[in-house]
Amino acid sequence: MTRTVDGSPLPAAGSGSRLVIEGVAYTYRGNGAPVEALRPIDLVFEPGEFICCIGPSGCGKTTLLQLLAGFLHPTSGRIMVDGRVVTSPGAERGVVFQQPALYPWLNVADNVTFGPRMRGAGRREAKELAEQYLRLVGLHDFGHRAPYELSGGMQQRAAIARVLANEPQIMLMDEPFGALDALTRENLQEELLSIWRATRRTVFFITHNAEEAVYLGTRVLVMSTRPGSVLADRQVRFGLQAAGDPRAVRASRAFIEVREELMDLVYRPDLETKWAEPSPGGDDADPALPANL
Ligand SMILES: Nc1ncnc2c1ncn2[C@@H]1O[C@H](COP(=O)(O)OP(=O)(O)O)[C@@H](O)[C@H]1O
Ligand SMILES: [Mg+2]
Repeated sequence: MTRTVDGSPLPAAGSGSRLVIEGVAYTYRGNGAPVEALRPIDLVFEPGEFICCIGPSGCGKTTLLQLLAGFLHPTSGRIMVDGRVVTSPGAERGVVFQQPALYPWLNVADNVTFGPRMRGAGRREAKELAEQYLRLVGLHDFGHRAPYELSGGMQQRAAIARVLANEPQIMLMDEPFGALDALTRENLQEELLSIWRATRRTVFFITHNAEEAVYLGTRVLVMSTRPGSVLADRQVRFGLQAAGDPRAVRASRAFIEVREELMDLVYRPDLETKWAEPSPGGDDADPALPANL
């Protein structure tokens, strides 16, 4: 079995979708002056990658996610999922927002099975799916509750279960833990990592928290101020260390070094750092990462 440099086994190869972003730019055109949100961006997300995207507020992160989700259409360029051009939202791309998106008139289990039921799942299959995914996010005793009876962290867990129940190939997450307190956030980070390790679906995760990006991702993208472009694209490996003690990982010198370099780039992009060049396959590519990541 392939192992990371610290000896921990690597999870199975990715099973999610391959996503190609080709020269994608976006300009908002409303009643006022046009707002150029994104400059042309070229990126490839390989199956099973956990991509964290970080950048200053207003740099176009949500715009990029909405383009990937199919809620917006590129002003130029195109996005492809497993070779098919994205023209609309699709069940293979699940979206988790900062505020948990749950139907208040349905109980938690019915929220989770809403997607599968809409696509024809029977009552029994839906019940099994609800049990499976509520268990995965630690809410197996809360299926019969109304969303308002749950705390913010539990609601976000339910929203994640709801997206997972559609068995998407790629999870698009827009600051999903941004509204949570620090402790809940750390718990959910661990849960998300264990779900990702178990399923190895592709994840695109937006955050403005550098520590979160470095901790969770196998790859971190840093975006420039608006109009957004990709300033840096770097592979990391902290989230791959399944058996690690989260506190020890975050306190390690290697972790702090990467986090600080990243923060420099977000807050002082004028600084020339080694982050400035995309690294995959380059001289500083991380040898601990498998080539097929
Ligand atoms: N509907 C809109 N019309 C005009 N400008 C918009 C609209 N939505 C977002 N913007 C602008 O586009 C830029 C990028 O926004 P957004 O993608 O939400 O940034 P981020 O998620 O990085 O904070 C911002 O300057 C924002 O004000
Ligand atoms: Mg945003």
